[in-house]
Amino acid sequence: MIEYLSLKRITAMHEEEIKEAVNEVIASGWYLNGKAVQRFEHNYSRYIGTQHCITCGNGLDALYLILRAYKALGVLNEGDEVIVPANTYIATILSITDNGLIPVLVEPSLDTLEIDDTLIEAALTPRTRAIMLVHLYGRCAYTERIGTICKQHNLKLIEDNAQAHGCTYKGKRTGSIGDAAAHSFYPGKNLGALGDAGAVTTNDEALAKLVRTLGNYGSSRKYVFDYRGKNSRMDEVQAAVLDVKLKYIDEDNTRRKEIAFLLEQGIDNPCITIPKASERDNVYHIFTLLTPYRNELQTFLSEHNIQTMIHYPIPPHRQLAYKEWNTLSLPITEQIHQQELSIPCNPVMIPKEIEELIETINSFAPHHI
Ligand SMILES: Cc1ncc(COP(=O)(O)O)c(C=O)c1O
Repeated sequence: MIEYLSLKRITAMHEEEIKEAVNEVIASGWYLNGKAVQRFEHNYSRYIGTQHCITCGNGLDALYLILRAYKALGVLNEGDEVIVPANTYIATILSITDNGLIPVLVEPSLDTLEIDDTLIEAALTPRTRAIMLVHLYGRCAYTERIGTICKQHNLKLIEDNAQAHGCTYKGKRTGSIGDAAAHSFYPGKNLGALGDAGAVTTNDEALAKLVRTLGNYGSSRKYVFDYRGKNSRMDEVQAAVLDVKLKYIDEDNTRRKEIAFLLEQGIDNPCITIPKASERDNVYHIFTLLTPYRNELQTFLSEHNIQTMIHYPIPPHRQLAYKEWNTLSLPITEQIHQQELSIPCNPVMIPKEIEELIETINSFAPHHI
């Protein structure tokens, strides 16, 4: 069986070091708001290249807290519009609507699967205040054009870096390009914890302070509450684990890129398209194929003991949670959701698995052409 992603094998790569780090936390008797979190915040902000890193409970909270902090600062107000790619994971959209803001869905491009920057200007209105840029699947979504639009229209640029730890744009890491960024350390991410965890990175000191306050019940001093905040924190065990794994993220991403290169070179089935856009950095959180025979290919691979996933089967605008958008027509987004298949591509894959994966995909012939 070629697993899509074996977290057991991922953890086993550094198991001894991880166990040591967890044991240290256990022995310390200090489980929240302690040295391990401080150390990880320091190391992760240095890694990303920002002055501040504020850890929190998960990636959705990180996105939510950024927007909430901008509201507390008066930068965003209820009813303001935020540009967002239509094909993102639901968390991006939830963070916007949970803050009483309005997501404006912009179609991605089929070459990159990232937001189509040529469509952004047409989506701007006098109420647009921010762009939520999602580095989806691990590929950098930032372009010069997006930077220029933000400057010209005085928009905040918020990065959803949940899927792209370690990705770069002209030498800068994603997560340090915009005004603020959210990171998820969900176990399956390129930098994954052993449970839920997230972080915000930014160079904006006022924003950083507020994010920390809002994630701490709205309190910056013990038992004094200036805001109606939430409880969202990374625990010491997760911080200690992440600090170990942070040392290896670049190595892991290099391996992902090597495997992705072999897949891109090796897969030549005419029924399948690989969105390459190789000029953009990609840390291959998810290796995507597009094919009109997606479901058939998925069944075929499963019959050949190859696990795959679909990211994602239903786009946000077609979800029951957003009934008001169900009649919207977003053809590129819909095509991606109908055709996308994610195949294994991760640092624990061995050469035999990579070869078998390529051979099996190339041997696929759809029944219903
Ligand atoms: C693009 C994107 N944004 C946000 C999130 C939310 O992160 P979390 O699961 O840590 O809340 C995820 C991951 O699940 C994601 O893929």
